[in-house]
Amino acid sequence: MSYKEEYKKSIENPEQFWQEKANKLEWFSTSNNILSKYDKGICHWFENWTMNTSHMALDFHVNNGRANQVAIYYDSPVRNTKRSYTYTELRDAVAKFTGVLKEQGIEKGDRVVIYMPMIPEAVIAMLSCARIGAIHSVVFGGFAAPELAIRINDAKPKLVLSASCGVEVNKVIPYKPLLDKAIRRSKYKVNKCIIYQCKEYNAKMLKDRDLDWQREFDKAQAVDSIAVKGSDLLYILYTSGTTATPKGITRENGGYVTALKYSMDAIYNINPGEIFWSASDIGWVVGHSYIVYAPLLQGATTVLYEGKPIMTPDAGVFWRVISEYNVKSLFAAPTAFRAVRKEDPKGDLIKKYDISSLKAIFVAGERLDPSTYNWLKESLQVPVIDNWWQTETGWPIAANPIGIEEFQTKAGSATFPVPGYSIKILDEEGEEVESTKQGNIAIKLPLPPGCVTSVWGSEDKFKSVYLDKFPGYYSSGDGGYFDKDNYLFVMGRTDDTINVAGHRFSTGEIEEILSGHEHIAECAVVGGYDEIKGQIPVGFIVLKTGLEINIDDIKQSFIDLIREYIGAVACYKDTVIVDRLPKTRSGKIVRKTMQKILNNESYAVPATIDDPLVLSEIKTQIKKQLNKQLI
Ligand code: COA
Ligand code: AMP
Repeated sequence: MSYKEEYKKSIENPEQFWQEKANKLEWFSTSNNILSKYDKGICHWFENWTMNTSHMALDFHVNNGRANQVAIYYDSPVRNTKRSYTYTELRDAVAKFTGVLKEQGIEKGDRVVIYMPMIPEAVIAMLSCARIGAIHSVVFGGFAAPELAIRINDAKPKLVLSASCGVEVNKVIPYKPLLDKAIRRSKYKVNKCIIYQCKEYNAKMLKDRDLDWQREFDKAQAVDSIAVKGSDLLYILYTSGTTATPKGITRENGGYVTALKYSMDAIYNINPGEIFWSASDIGWVVGHSYIVYAPLLQGATTVLYEGKPIMTPDAGVFWRVISEYNVKSLFAAPTAFRAVRKEDPKGDLIKKYDISSLKAIFVAGERLDPSTYNWLKESLQVPVIDNWWQTETGWPIAANPIGIEEFQTKAGSATFPVPGYSIKILDEEGEEVESTKQGNIAIKLPLPPGCVTSVWGSEDKFKSVYLDKFPGYYSSGDGGYFDKDNYLFVMGRTDDTINVAGHRFSTGEIEEILSGHEHIAECAVVGGYDEIKGQIPVGFIVLKTGLEINIDDIKQSFIDLIREYIGAVACYKDTVIVDRLPKTRSGKIVRKTMQKILNNESYAVPATIDDPLVLSEIKTQIKKQLNKQLI
């Protein structure tokens, strides 16, 4: 079937379309009910079908000819370790660790927070939760204690799974003290933690609360998977929004497995038995979907890589891993490739390895700038496939569907809507704009399987953030347009979130933390252009009057504060001290205009601005304090 026919069918007859896709997986029971529709277009797919994601991802393959195929290659240059698990070995480890969870009284619907580095035990933990219907919530290991505390407080886990440490290039990062601090900060009290002791750092255990992972594992009994409903939750994953509190995106089992399996066929073109590598982290949605669940559901082999694209040990590591494991497709963020290109602009390190197994590169997480796209295409001579999606959707919204039909790519475009997604470009009033005009990217309801169905703990929040703005549509928070050939160009967020190295951060949250600093009277945070990470947060700060302090020291204290509250991964380093902030007459800070000035883009003085002079004051301070040439 052509892409056009496939797409048409998915929009005109979604239930039949997705039923056919779902039938490619092994369900425990099915029903005629495919899509249940509720208030405001909230939908649940396969609500009354029964299944188990861990069974589909592991047992099914063990029972159907893949018992001895490698499921995971673990490659960690930072720990100097390589290990692999066949499907049987992984299934057995998961079944046993499920026994550990059972022993702790974990049952269907209980939440389990996972705060771990990129080690196989983290994947085993996720799949074990799925096996008994517990809802996991993985928290990225780079988040500091307060961020972890916010998530613990919201998810209210019965159990936390963690490890003694992570390793960043050559720095050991003790995770356990951060976990202890987070539990102390959280109002909700965690009673049990299971800690994996890594050889790089031995964590101190709390007598009545902490259990040793290996010891519990060694004495556990294997446990089989239980049947859950398609609409039961597999996980909660927190993401930043415009407010200071992250939102817990909910993911249901049935729709997710169906969508992921379909995406491996239609978009990533990965067949059972082939090797797929997503160089992300299990703490982000790309890691959930394309390191863990999708490759395993497809019966492929996934690479779990614990390292960086550069520095571990050099910019040739991507090519080393591709050649060592015969990777067919590599999926990574544009940031990673910008970092590689900076170190090795002529691609000399590529020539050191045989990467003939590589058939395509996939990029997502942030806009793929045309120069990185061109460099990749020329250096690797394989298709470079940009795909646009979000934590909320869990899988691509727009892509070049090479598993169905490969289209000519256009630099800067994620190509076409993926079957299942009816994408419209709307103006502020919710009217469709003419083709080629930029506007808000919205998706007509119902969303296809796999996408967010609520915000954990608050369906009202889900409706108000995503569904109320344009009734009948899901509002993506991204702006963009279709060109005359119907290629989709995603141009960036329309809300106050920024994208740092492919990770979404809320400027509102950074502002709220900075505002707690004793010397700050007022502040605004906007995204500054960064040649590697795309954007980094830049703080414009008005100090309290009458302070006698060293400016460098105070700027350093802002950096320390953000590292302490969010983590080093927010990459806060630049502060501009200003006398006042530009505001409208009603007192709203004109952040978008500030961002344009900072990034040397043309801007119009907002008609409602209270005092236009403030904009030139800001410009002068950016030039002086950040040493930037602005026109
Ligand atoms: N645990 C603890 N700390 C972490 C961490 C983790 N899992 N991940 C990052 N950090 C820390 C880093 O150590 C660094 O700390 P430092 O400022 O003390 O050196 C800081 O957070 C920033 O890290 P990172 O964003 O990785 O920047 P970097 O300068 O060390 O490396 C790149 C630059 C480009 C190599 C790196 O940003 C990268 O690999 N980017 C791609 C990310 C990606 O895949 N994003 C898409 C996810 S879907
Ligand atoms: P996250 O949920 O953290 O993965 O962030 C999702 C956001 O990243 C999207 O809303 C976009 O703003 C941006 N994004 C992700 N992929 C792309 C892409 N291929 N092109 C442009 N922007 C992207």
